[in-house]
Amino acid sequence: MNGWPLLRITIFGTGYVGLVTGACLAETGNHVVCVDIDADRVAQLSRGDVPIYEPGLDALVTGNVNAGRLTFTTDAEAAVAHGRLQFIAVGTPSDESGAADLQYVRQVADTIGRYMTEYRLVITKSTVPVGTADEVRATIRAALDARDVSPEFDVASNPEFLKEGAAIEDFMKPDRVVIGVDNERAADHLRALYAPYNRSRDRCMVMDIRSAELTKYAANIMLAAKVSMMNELAQISDRVGADIERVRTAIGADHRIGYHFIYPGCGFGGSCFPKDVRALGSTSKQHGYEPALLDAIEGVNMRQKRVLFERLQAHFGDLAGRTIGVWGLAFKPNTDDMREAPSRTLMEALWEAGASVRAFDPEATGEARRIYGDRADLALCDSALDAARDVDALVVVTEWHIFRSPDFDELKTLMAQPVIVDGRNIYEPDYLRREGFTYYGIGRAAGNPAPV
Ligand SMILES: NC(=O)c1ccc[n+]([C@@H]2O[C@H](COP(=O)([O-])OP(=O)(O)OC[C@H]3O[C@@H](n4cnc5c(N)ncnc54)[C@H](O)[C@@H]3O)[C@@H](O)[C@H]2O)c1
Repeated sequence: MNGWPLLRITIFGTGYVGLVTGACLAETGNHVVCVDIDADRVAQLSRGDVPIYEPGLDALVTGNVNAGRLTFTTDAEAAVAHGRLQFIAVGTPSDESGAADLQYVRQVADTIGRYMTEYRLVITKSTVPVGTADEVRATIRAALDARDVSPEFDVASNPEFLKEGAAIEDFMKPDRVVIGVDNERAADHLRALYAPYNRSRDRCMVMDIRSAELTKYAANIMLAAKVSMMNELAQISDRVGADIERVRTAIGADHRIGYHFIYPGCGFGGSCFPKDVRALGSTSKQHGYEPALLDAIEGVNMRQKRVLFERLQAHFGDLAGRTIGVWGLAFKPNTDDMREAPSRTLMEALWEAGASVRAFDPEATGEARRIYGDRADLALCDSALDAARDVDALVVVTEWHIFRSPDFDELKTLMAQPVIVDGRNIYEPDYLRREGFTYYGIGRAAGNPAPV
C-alpha cells in the first residue's frame, strides 16, 4: 500500500517509546508533535539534545526537527488541536500493589477530552491492563460532557514491542503491528499510518481491543518466563555439578525451544518485564484467577538478582571494607536505562554490607549519578580498567561488547585480588582459571562452591 496522505500526529510522552515513535513516524513524512509535562525535557529536545541513549536516535530526531516534521511542546491544548491521531505513550509504572499505575494515562485522556473540538482517534501505545481502553473512553466522554460538547472520537490499542537498544530498527521493521479496534474507521487510520512500514508484507494484525491489550503482556511474560526458567535451571545446575552453558546449547538445538532468550544471567530488569509480570498478575487476581506461574517468574527473578552478591559473600565472608568493581550498570547493553537493573540490587546490597563500589558503564554512568548522587562508597569510573583498579573482585553485570575480551594480564595486575564473578557467562571458565583468576559464573558448577 502506497500513496497514503501524510498524517498529523500527536504523541503524549517523550520517553523511550514516545520519542522513538515520534521520530520514526516523522521520518516517513508525517507531521508529529510530541508533548510532555516535563518542561526541562521538552526544552532539551527542542534544542536538539536527546536526553536518553538509544542508538541512531540523535540523528533521527535532529534530522526530523530540522526538516520541520517533528516538534516538541508542553502546550497540551495546541497538541490536541494538531493531530487527528493522538497517541498515549506515557509511563505505566507499578503501584504499591504491583498493579499498573494508570494516573498518567488518565491525565492524558482527560486532557484530550478537555481540548478536542473535532474527531480524534486516541491510541494507547503505553502498556496498559486489559480494559484500559474503556477507561480512556469514559474519561474522554466525561471531559466532553463537562464542556457540553460531543465531537466524535474512537479509541484504539496499539501496543509497542520495540526493544531498548534496537528501538529504531524494531519500529521501522516490526515483527508485527498489533491494532486493537472496535470499528473500521479506526482500523483504516491505523492501517494507513503503518502502510510505509509494511512494504514487504502486511504486518498489521487487527483484532479486538482487549486481545490487543493482552497481547503486549503475553509477549513480555513469555520472554520473562524463558529467562526465569533458565535461571532456575542454572541454580539447579550449580547444585548438581553441571554446566548450564552446555545444557543451553544442547536444548536450544531443539527447534521447539530455540536459542533466543535462553541465556542464564543475574536476573532481568528494565522498565518492562518486571512491572508487566506484576501487572498481569494483578489483573489476573482482580478477575479471580490465581496466577501460579506469573508469581513464580517474579519470585525466581528477585532471587536471581541477589546471586552476584551471594557469590561474593560466599567467597569473602564479611564484605565490610572490601572494594568491588562493577562492569555494567544499564539493565542491558545499548541503553542507559537503569530501571530495576540487577546492578542496583548488587550495589545496594554491597553498600548495606559495608563494601565500596567502583563502576563503569559505557552509557549509564550519568544515570547512576542521577540516581545515587555523590557518595563515598561509589566511584563512577571513566573506563573499564579504571573500575578494576585495586578491587577485591570484579563483577560483570551487563554484557556490553567492550567487556568481552579484556586484557586479562593487565586486569590481573590492576586488581587487588584476581576474582571475577561473571554474571552473564561471557568468559571461558577454564581459560580464566589457567590465567590465574578465581572464576565464578552463573550455573557453571565446575569450581563454583555451593551458593549460600
Ligand atoms: N521502554 C520500553 O522499552 C518500552 C517498550 C514497549 C512498551 N513500553 C511501554 O510504553 C510506555 C512508556 O514507556 P517509556 O519507557 O517510554 O516511559 P518513560 O518513563 O521513558 O517516559 C514517559 C514520559 O511520559 C511523560 N508524561 C507523563 N505524564 C504525561 C502527560 N500527562 N502528558 C505528557 N507527557 C507525560 C513523562 O514526563 C515521561 O517523559 C509504558 O507503558 C511502557 O510499559 C516501554
